[in-house]
Amino acid sequence: MSAPSGSTIALSIAPQAFQIRPFNGAVGAEIIGLDLALPVNDEDFARIHRAHLEHHVVVFRDQRITPEQQIAFSRRFGVLQIHVLKQFLLADHPQILIVSNVIENGQSIGLGDAGKFWHSDLSYKELPSLGSMLHAQELPAEGGDTLFADMHHAWDTLPQALRHAVEGRSAAHSYTARYSETKFEGNWRPTLTPEQLAQVNEVVHPVVRTHPENGRKALFVSEGFTTRIIGLPDDESRELLAQLYAHSVRPENIYRHQWQPHDLVFWDNRSLIHLAAGCPRHLRRTLYRTTIQGDAPY
Ligand code: SIN
Repeated sequence: MSAPSGSTIALSIAPQAFQIRPFNGAVGAEIIGLDLALPVNDEDFARIHRAHLEHHVVVFRDQRITPEQQIAFSRRFGVLQIHVLKQFLLADHPQILIVSNVIENGQSIGLGDAGKFWHSDLSYKELPSLGSMLHAQELPAEGGDTLFADMHHAWDTLPQALRHAVEGRSAAHSYTARYSETKFEGNWRPTLTPEQLAQVNEVVHPVVRTHPENGRKALFVSEGFTTRIIGLPDDESRELLAQLYAHSVRPENIYRHQWQPHDLVFWDNRSLIHLAAGCPRHLRRTLYRTTIQGDAPY
């Protein structure tokens, strides 16, 4: 039977039956039975959003999705950020940064040493990332894990003396701080052009930030991008940052993600810092990353 002329037909999107299973450790949950190649209705999306806020990193298993589908799903959380290293953006999809140690015809096809030091994505921008999604394309048979540290827990358990030392303070963040330092053998980084350098001027953020959605405080410094605490002599700043880093990455504060084929991992950069553990040089590892813009930390 056809609809009466002039009326609209509400096309409803079927719910998907999926489970959210928290991991045992510090943070994280896996989502089983959801297919991101299919439309996700508002109720299912709200469940995913809540899981992301509660667990800080969610692992969508077995996602056979295209780059377009990854971009579309990422966009539901906010505006996507384009990485400054244009050399490593996916052709025709600049919203995707290729994270890869693969070298073809003498050229790296992606950023091989992304995440070589603990960091929160794009903390060197005025508007750092809300979250990032990393989709496995090709995984090594050994190694290649990604580690996540809970910065809410780091703040909640910070000794009183350190709390007093950092409360109300700000720190500088810079993309270039450790840009040229090598960690993974054989990785290559392009020299930044003047235009690229102009996009990554140093910024200043509070050392302790408030998560805009869950209201919790989190430490917001990392060895990758934080260069100094404003207003302290260099040696004091270095010493204080070293103590904060050591406290943040204590083993009980960490979830270690061991990748499975077609995993899509979505973490909250306002709650966590992360680290790529690296893999043997002869093994190929490629993932696609989308990065969602967040708020100005306060
Ligand atoms: C990143 O820091 O975005 C990459 C992490 C990884 O390759 O495991």
